[in-house]
Amino acid sequence: MLQPLTHFGQLSIDTFVKEYWQQKPICIRNAFPDIAPLIAADELAGLSLEAEVESRLIENQGDITDWRLQHGPMQDADFAKQRDYPWTLLVQGVDQYVPAVFDFASKFRFMPAWRYDDIMISYATAGAGVGAHFDRYDVFLIQGEGCRRWEIGQACSSTSPLAEHNDLSLLQDFETIESFDLEPGDMLYLPPLVAHRGVALTDNCMTYSVGCRAPSFSDVIGGFADYIGQQLSPDQRLRNSLEAQPPGEISANDIANLRHIIAQQLTDENLAQWFGSMSTEPKNPALDISEEAMDSSELANILVDKYGVIRVSEGVRIAYTWQGEGGLTLFIQGAAIPCPPQATELAMALANKLVIAVEDLAPLIAHEASEALFLVLHNQGWIYFDDE
Ligand code: SIN
Ligand code: CO
Repeated sequence: MLQPLTHFGQLSIDTFVKEYWQQKPICIRNAFPDIAPLIAADELAGLSLEAEVESRLIENQGDITDWRLQHGPMQDADFAKQRDYPWTLLVQGVDQYVPAVFDFASKFRFMPAWRYDDIMISYATAGAGVGAHFDRYDVFLIQGEGCRRWEIGQACSSTSPLAEHNDLSLLQDFETIESFDLEPGDMLYLPPLVAHRGVALTDNCMTYSVGCRAPSFSDVIGGFADYIGQQLSPDQRLRNSLEAQPPGEISANDIANLRHIIAQQLTDENLAQWFGSMSTEPKNPALDISEEAMDSSELANILVDKYGVIRVSEGVRIAYTWQGEGGLTLFIQGAAIPCPPQATELAMALANKLVIAVEDLAPLIAHEASEALFLVLHNQGWIYFDDE
């Protein structure tokens, strides 16, 4: 079963959350004492050849202003090439494609699923790095294989000067405050906006970056306004009585009318509908997750056999909110599904656990409403039966 962590090595998650999360960086030695490689270098390279996979290759030849950034999909020739300078391959969203990486990501479910973004994996040769930069989200950098030196520096902002480079957002200045050499199983946590620079100390240096999400205020306000805008009819228009006001003036009353229109839409229900749909939108819409359709009698057969598990498909985003009088809305891959009371247990179990043993499934789908929900989710490819 997929279990969120209780400890990073010796440090409890409670202490981490109270003392470090969103506050200060920490290097945790042996955060994952039993870590085993999650993916082989050639498998990572193979993923970067796929059209739907987001990847980058950075070559550290010459001065940083000469460094070359190439976006995927890569070609076989990119890996057949002999380079006498260091290089890094970075592949985004590997948890969507590799079950072991998806399972590793579930260790981070001590935070709400909507806060989690993806796992990026980098492969670097000795001496390679992506340069000094900052990210606007929290990141957990876990050393998978090989060894990497991480230097952490000053707090940055949108006004921090950037080096002259057309493609890479590298910092012009970097003040090293601390430096750590990470071995497999060690982890560095960085809150948003902290400058950092990683350099591989060995070949086959694999770093797993667990990235978090934090929508900007601009994303929240712009996204919500767009969502509401799509629900409204063009027939709904501003009306106002004509009052005695100088023709050149926009009156306080005109402004109050605008506020009224906006305030009417600013309900918790609208916010929850928008946020649930937005935060579960597929990271990668091109992902092929189709499942062969199942009907009620096939489902009954699975229940009788009582083996295997039902899994939420790798890369599928799922969450729920409570609305009004105990009603639950399930959000999955951007779709909003209102659930009748008889289906809420199933929706919650899927969203909270991601994996349900078939032997525990019968009570969750005992009612026709919950069985119908199960079949809809299955036949969309959002959940699947795994008999391993
Ligand atoms: C890397 O894995 O090389 C870069 C990760 C990062 O700095 O965000
Ligand atoms: Co970074």
